[in-house]
Amino acid sequence: MSEPLVVARDVKKVFVHEGKDVDVLKGVDLSVNRGEMLCVVGPSGTGKSTLLHILGTLDLPTSGSITYEGRDVTRLTSSELARFRNRTLGFVFQFHHLMPEFDALENVMMPGLVQGLARTPLKKRARELLEEVGLAHRLAHRPGELSGGEQQRVALARALVLDPALILADEPTGNLDSRTSEQVHQLFFELNARRGTTFLIVTHSRDMAARMPRVVTMRDGVVERDERKSETYRDRDGRKEAALDVLPRGADAIASEEPSEDAEKAPSEAESPSPAANEPSEPNAPDEAGNRA
Ligand SMILES: Nc1ncnc2c1ncn2[C@@H]1O[C@H](COP(=O)(O)OP(=O)(O)OP(=O)(O)O)[C@@H](O)[C@H]1O
Ligand SMILES: [Mg+2]
Repeated sequence: MSEPLVVARDVKKVFVHEGKDVDVLKGVDLSVNRGEMLCVVGPSGTGKSTLLHILGTLDLPTSGSITYEGRDVTRLTSSELARFRNRTLGFVFQFHHLMPEFDALENVMMPGLVQGLARTPLKKRARELLEEVGLAHRLAHRPGELSGGEQQRVALARALVLDPALILADEPTGNLDSRTSEQVHQLFFELNARRGTTFLIVTHSRDMAARMPRVVTMRDGVVERDERKSETYRDRDGRKEAALDVLPRGADAIASEEPSEDAEKAPSEAESPSPAANEPSEPNAPDEAGNRA
């Protein structure tokens, strides 16, 4: 077993609502290895999104710890946190929060622009990702000129542009038709196989859950069940690959790792990028990252 990428230990979350405590997470333990693909399922109101926000460092647990490769991220300062988040995590939510005044290519570049990365290699990277999600012909379209599924794929490309170790997705296909959902799911598996990206996906989709190698079921604020349905494979470098037996097709065409992004950094990399670029800004998110200090 490789060292887990992220470990949640006895995570509790209490919201205070109209003077009363609302116990939402009641002691969640979860460990996710690098390269794993898992989904989190469970009834509405059971705490899935709350857990995702906490794992994504967008909200703090009331108690318990979240460690990434041994480092407790609940203790980072806000600038350390912003940097950590930008480099390690990609977010894909149901409502994709693209910036309406920018085109697809610019939206995908945004997390890198916020970090002050050099524009030319960033643009190349964004273009490649949009090609990878099947949108080579829509680079200059603004969100209002894209279909829902296309917007969702732009959001996915944006989440991937800085090559995060972990993609956190909350009902990423919740508002897509079944065919487009299928394409997005397919893409998750392909990205996992080709890049070794770890995916943690909250979903109500039975189809999605049925195909995932690991399904974590939450109920009433705790993990009720944690099922691993198949073995994962390692490549020659010891890197974990997706569980090949659940890969829909093309599983044997596992390409070698993409060349790493050698974008020269601009001299002053932003210490605390605005949360707007690669992060959700749901109006009802429990607590925005910016509130942490
Ligand atoms: N800021 C908040 N203040 C008070 N209660 C909250 C807050 N945010 C969430 N809750 C409550 O916490 C519970 C869990 O919410 P959460 O969004 O995590 O559920 P979920 O499992 O994602 O549900 P769904 O499947 O419907 O998306 C809900 O009962 C919700 O009302
Ligand atoms: Mg939810």
